[in-house]
Amino acid sequence: MKIIKKVKEMQVCADRARLESKRIAFVPTMGYLHEGHLSLVRIARELCDLLVVSIFVNPSQFAPHEDFEAYPRNFQRDFDMTEKEGVDIIFAPEVGELYSANFQTYVSLEKIPMHLCGISRPIFFRGVATVVTKLFNIVKPHTAVFGKKDYQQLLVIRRMVSDLHMDIDIIGGETIREHDGLAMSSRNTYLTKTQRESAISLNNALKKAQKAVESKITDASQIVKQTKEFISSHPETQIDYVAICDPETLEDIQVINRPALMALAVKVGSTRLIDNMILNTK
Ligand code: PAJ
Repeated sequence: MKIIKKVKEMQVCADRARLESKRIAFVPTMGYLHEGHLSLVRIARELCDLLVVSIFVNPSQFAPHEDFEAYPRNFQRDFDMTEKEGVDIIFAPEVGELYSANFQTYVSLEKIPMHLCGISRPIFFRGVATVVTKLFNIVKPHTAVFGKKDYQQLLVIRRMVSDLHMDIDIIGGETIREHDGLAMSSRNTYLTKTQRESAISLNNALKKAQKAVESKITDASQIVKQTKEFISSHPETQIDYVAICDPETLEDIQVINRPALMALAVKVGSTRLIDNMILNTK
């Protein structure tokens, strides 16, 4: 497995692979990998001849008060995990390689970031769309794989790729969970024992909501209220949002009479966790 740190070297490698008619698949990450990331790597491995994983903690998607400095990093561990999965190239640039002192060009979307995580993290999706565009221009993939755990992020990427005519297939991978249902996240490592116990309430709340829908409760506001009460009954939880919305536009919906996205963001201690589920009327 090759480690590339320079933009030009990655671009030359990508050009060479394309000249040889090789298909390039790409999994962008911020490192500190877990089974969730690896599940995307496994999907990508099946789709290509050259598999590139990026490891880059992207400063432009963190607000000044957020955890850019503290974000967990362990390159050796990531290297070992990706090598076992048959990854061909790790692209791991330094911050200065992607953001020069005079950097001033951003990609931003108008509507999708006005909902859910975009409300409490107003620069987040601009940072994500910008870095993913840059990475696409560097890695030149035919296909890229993103997790449905970050549902709104996946929607942003799909919209951006379509709006800007990027010739890249975007694949969504299912959310991988711990045995008790907690969605895997690099940030789970921040949780104390008590907080870890409270963190399970996110997925349990989604399962309860699905049960409520199956028992013919269609009033979204009633389910949102019950969900907030349930999560708040766990120690050290502070709700950012609980929403039931249209899976494409993310606009709130009032009556659940078709598949609806239920999305949650909750601070457990000082760690912000997200999870989501499509509620199905059966
Ligand atoms: P990161 O949080 O490292 O996640 C990288 C990819 O792994 C994303 O597509 C995310 O949705 C996916 N992922 C995370 N946890 C998952 C889980 N439990 N199951 C399945 N997939 C999971 O998301 C980012 O990095 C960044 O915003 C990035 C896209 C790399 C841009 O900087």
